[in-house]
Amino acid sequence: MYIFDEMDKKYLDMCGGAAVSCLGHQHPDVIAALQGQIGTMSFAHTTFFSNEPQEKLATALASRFGEEGAKVYFSSGGSEANETALKLVWQYWRALGLEGKTKIISREHSYHGNTLGALSVSGHPGRRKPMMGVLHDWPRIMPCYAFRDMVEGESEVDYGLRAAKALEDAILKAGPDTVAAFIAEPVVGASLGIVPAVEGYFAEIRAICDRYDILLISDEIMCGTGRTGTFFAHEQDDFLPDIVTLAKGIGGGYQPLAATIVRRKIADAFSSSGQAFNHGHTYIGHASACASGMAVLDTFDKYQLLGNVRAKGTALIDALRSNFAGHANVGDIRGRGLFIGVEIVADKATNAMPEDGAGLAKKILKSAMGHGLLCYPNGGSAESGSGCHVMFAPPFILDDSHIAEMIEKFHKVMVEVFGG
Ligand SMILES: Cc1ncc(COP(=O)(O)O)c(C=O)c1O
Repeated sequence: MYIFDEMDKKYLDMCGGAAVSCLGHQHPDVIAALQGQIGTMSFAHTTFFSNEPQEKLATALASRFGEEGAKVYFSSGGSEANETALKLVWQYWRALGLEGKTKIISREHSYHGNTLGALSVSGHPGRRKPMMGVLHDWPRIMPCYAFRDMVEGESEVDYGLRAAKALEDAILKAGPDTVAAFIAEPVVGASLGIVPAVEGYFAEIRAICDRYDILLISDEIMCGTGRTGTFFAHEQDDFLPDIVTLAKGIGGGYQPLAATIVRRKIADAFSSSGQAFNHGHTYIGHASACASGMAVLDTFDKYQLLGNVRAKGTALIDALRSNFAGHANVGDIRGRGLFIGVEIVADKATNAMPEDGAGLAKKILKSAMGHGLLCYPNGGSAESGSGCHVMFAPPFILDDSHIAEMIEKFHKVMVEVFGG
């Protein structure tokens, strides 16, 4: 649960970097699996061979997916996994003779990666800005963000339906024959500060995608691999995506690893059209990366860690709420499992966003590190550059003593940054 810097200063890791280190640091089981693999076979290019860790991990991931026959494509990071998903989508529609379906609809305040396709579908103004003019500019809809967008007198269910309707409107405006897919995170991570959708939203999104023959991509790069208490985040939103992307937690930080999982119908479209999926990187399916991924999954099972995610997730959110919900600069504390966000506001009465969100996030980070705490503050995701939140995404091995230590340290941070 701790990182030590070169001065031997100790930091309690309550964010796993960016929700990466799900097993903490130096987990002996993962290290042993990784060393064993490197000692056996370090690299064999996929042009010539598959490898055992890749096959085992693909089978394990497919068996956890909610429909039989899923297939898995491995890459090295989240952007690559989403780029792979986008290319799969386009080539899938071509395999079916529907070349006109090319647009990918996404949501505002989202981040799907830094490669050109993944950044094109990201609704993150700060990261898009330097690349404006070269990115694709496909339609984007508002996210499901009840804290800010639900209106007075509206029920959560009604709000969810209204938020989902924006997708139908965007599809109709673009023309269903031109839309290939919709991409969203079931629980929005760094760009909004951990925001789960309201009940019913994703079921409606699924129904709309089915109505207009549009593929649904669930970006679970941050929120997947057990982070929210179920292996896939979408399990708690009661829908089955056509494609799921995983990264971060699946390699646990021990190796760069990502996966793009597709439903059988997508794989079948390629095989029945006789068209191979045209894509590839040198390090796809790397044996030691996949061995780490397999060790991460085995470790979850061996120590029943997803149960710990659910139990400690409840303890962590309760502790945050009982200590900070009344704070003058805390607007909302929300999340699922060990994926919890604290939204910082300038004025509790109006929930006005702090103006220089990015500047405030930097101050919080500096103070937290000063107190030996790693949390993940972010700001500036709103168009104006305002907005600020702090994310907690600790390793799944944490216990109550870490929660107590974190609360004590975060109190000091809040006093230092806000004076109270
Ligand atoms: C939801 C989501 N998708 C995609 C990415 C991109 O992943 P990577 O940085 O591994 O390329 C991130 C990274 O933060 C992410 O949070």
